[in-house]
Amino acid sequence: MKSPVRVAVTGAAGQIGYALLFRIAAGDMLGKDQPVILHLLEITPALPALNGVVMELNDCAFPLLAGIVATDDPNVAFKDVDYALLVGARPRGPGMERKDLLEANGAIFAPQGKALNAHARRDVKVLVVGNPANTNALIAQQNAPDLDPRCFTAMVRLDHNRALSQLAEKTGAHVTDIRKMTIWGNHSSTQYPDIHHATVKGTAATSLVDQAWYRDSFIPTVQQRGAAIIKARGASSAASAASAAIDHMRSWALGTEPGDWVSMAIPSDGSYGIAPGVIYGYPVTCKNGKYEIVQGLEINAFSRERMDATDKELREERAGVEHLFARK
Ligand code: NAI
Repeated sequence: MKSPVRVAVTGAAGQIGYALLFRIAAGDMLGKDQPVILHLLEITPALPALNGVVMELNDCAFPLLAGIVATDDPNVAFKDVDYALLVGARPRGPGMERKDLLEANGAIFAPQGKALNAHARRDVKVLVVGNPANTNALIAQQNAPDLDPRCFTAMVRLDHNRALSQLAEKTGAHVTDIRKMTIWGNHSSTQYPDIHHATVKGTAATSLVDQAWYRDSFIPTVQQRGAAIIKARGASSAASAASAAIDHMRSWALGTEPGDWVSMAIPSDGSYGIAPGVIYGYPVTCKNGKYEIVQGLEINAFSRERMDATDKELREERAGVEHLFARK
């Protein structure tokens, strides 16, 4: 058996936390041979609820669960962690402007970035789930000057999985028949789900569906799926978000399948003409715990326009939080 790794989860008493922790402890994220020590962070008023979650984790008697740290102190939560899933965030309240939302989340993600900088392992893998995820990841990254900027990623995997599911349904295939789906850009309604490189059972996806369906049905359905779930369920997606977070970390840590890729929001290096530095959804392959952007894809005018629109939104979000950056 391998020695345990430390996995921090913030917002651990929330809905996504409740759908996430038990699967991590069961080995779904890092494999059935990898023991984990869970580091659970919550705000002080949620500690009693978190204690209930800890009791349930213990009651599962998971063979791979090697310990639990439950705390309201980020310095304790991020001590020596190998993985950090930043789920807890400030939701948009009534009458709250985008600027207020970014500011409120800055107050969470700047200190968490600093605590990661001070205490996490130098090769920590950070996934930000809490919205606005891409820009929250940027805030945390920019407050962690001693960590490699590439340690910080944000989640577009739920959008990726939603896109697989929509295309599978339309083409009468199974999600496992589809390769090379891409989500470009921001985890917001400007994201661009791109099927131009995707195949279904080896056939180009664009030859199986018509352009009108792609443009007028597929893209908006994927972009607005989060809102549709809130409307149907009366609460935002939780189990599917947790599942996507597990997929994201698993791909990063254990690698992607040969002949396929996944979508991860990562610091842009300028590839595909995107502003360097913004945390942008890209097609990536992963090997030996490292991700690489898939290069050389042909981008047509339809895609270019949409990739630039979501880049523009991310640049605007960045401009709104730059005063929170510690990294020079
Ligand atoms: P929730 O409200 O059920 O849970 C959030 C938890 O975070 C609460 O228990 C709260 O006490 C905690 N929290 C707040 N501030 C914290 C801090 N500073 N440190 C530690 N914990 C803190 O919300 P839910 O449904 O679990 O969603 C969490 C976030 O994930 C939201 O921002 C949501 O918008 C986002 N989300 C992102 C998705 C994505 O695809 N990127 C998909 C679905 C949700």
